[in-house]
Amino acid sequence: MTTRSVRALSGALKPLFSPRSPQGYVVAVCHQTHKSTYTTIAPPARYGGRHTVTLIPGDGIGPELAKHVCELFRFCCVPVDFEVVNVDSTETSEDDINNAIMAIRRNGVALKGNIETNHNLPPSYKSRNSLLRTTLDLYASVMHCQSLPGVRTHHRNIDIITIRENTEGEYSSLEHENVPGVVESLKIITRTKSLRIADYAFRTAREKGRRRVTAVHKANIMKLGDGLFLECCKEVASGYPEITFDSMIVDNTTMQLVSRPQQFDVMVMPNLYGNVVSNVCAGLVGGPGLVPGANYGENYAVFETGTRNTGKSIANRNTANPTAMLLASCLLLDHLKLHGYASMIRKAILSTITDSRLHTADLGGKGSTSEMVQSIMDAIQSTGPRTQRH
Ligand code: NAI
Repeated sequence: MTTRSVRALSGALKPLFSPRSPQGYVVAVCHQTHKSTYTTIAPPARYGGRHTVTLIPGDGIGPELAKHVCELFRFCCVPVDFEVVNVDSTETSEDDINNAIMAIRRNGVALKGNIETNHNLPPSYKSRNSLLRTTLDLYASVMHCQSLPGVRTHHRNIDIITIRENTEGEYSSLEHENVPGVVESLKIITRTKSLRIADYAFRTAREKGRRRVTAVHKANIMKLGDGLFLECCKEVASGYPEITFDSMIVDNTTMQLVSRPQQFDVMVMPNLYGNVVSNVCAGLVGGPGLVPGANYGENYAVFETGTRNTGKSIANRNTANPTAMLLASCLLLDHLKLHGYASMIRKAILSTITDSRLHTADLGGKGSTSEMVQSIMDAIQSTGPRTQRH
């Protein structure tokens, strides 16, 4: 791959929003059809220009990948100090996750591995990941799935941004069994949150120069819930005349994605469809080891791997692909306005994948996690001094 294409790609993989106001944490963005919404603003640097970031290693491959992020940041002299908070997913008490939430409130930003949610646990056990996202109102889950040169996939030229409502829908955890054998499970869709995520999607499209936003729904069957979501998207779309708005039923969407994914640009979805569709998109561009994910709210931002799995079966084997987690750390750096460090690491990752062709097993290669990280550090070393990258 040429330097130019690496540059183009690393530009394309940049964060979806850049912070705009040095004074505070939120910025109001007016929209003509409904109340204002907000963009997450990064916390300012503290002593000596350094940032403190909450690091939640999580389960499975999370801790080893977190270790590699720390190693790489140290190597690059990134002015970030991690406050490590462990969350034990086997604990019934919610103390650990509450500590983690408190640390994120303190620092404003976090990098996390995924925390396992064992589906055999009783319904009273809430997913630690969901608790974190809903308590901090991290309402927008954003993934950018893009074909990478050097990664062999069935389809080429995919460039899709998925925007998923992250705090309601099927994840409201309201399930009960009043009549034996009959389980009631609520899916909550509200006008306020639907307008908020729709506006986020259209703003993203505008800021990124995208042309089309597709709302994914099942309003033909769920006429009230998904119907409301779709209506809200239409309402917001009217304020963005330069962007084409369309909608697609979720079942057709998944079929279209696997047959002709290039037709999609920005996709906006309620919670569960967003999870399914973004996992399909990640699979289309190479799998869970490649794509980073970001969760934004008004006050906080949390970065993690896009597909949010734990990779338990490959934990501690030095075989996991570190790309998704390392790219998530680059999104974190961009959020902190440490763009120079972010682009230096991003370029080195891309050149390791494309030029060095050092691939882990998930991409059909024989490289180990640590070999890949070493190759990224070698690529950085070859580009010169590592300080003063602001
Ligand atoms: P998993 O963790 O088993 O991963 C799925 C596949 O992707 C596995 O074959 C794994 O080896 C591979 N993989 C994942 N990350 C990789 C990497 N960095 N490099 C190379 N290969 C990688 O997925 P599963 O079974 O869906 O989830 C496991 C746990 O994760 C669940 O218990 C659940 O609690 C949690 N989780 C998963 C989510 C998902 O989107 N799949 C979402 C939320 C939680």
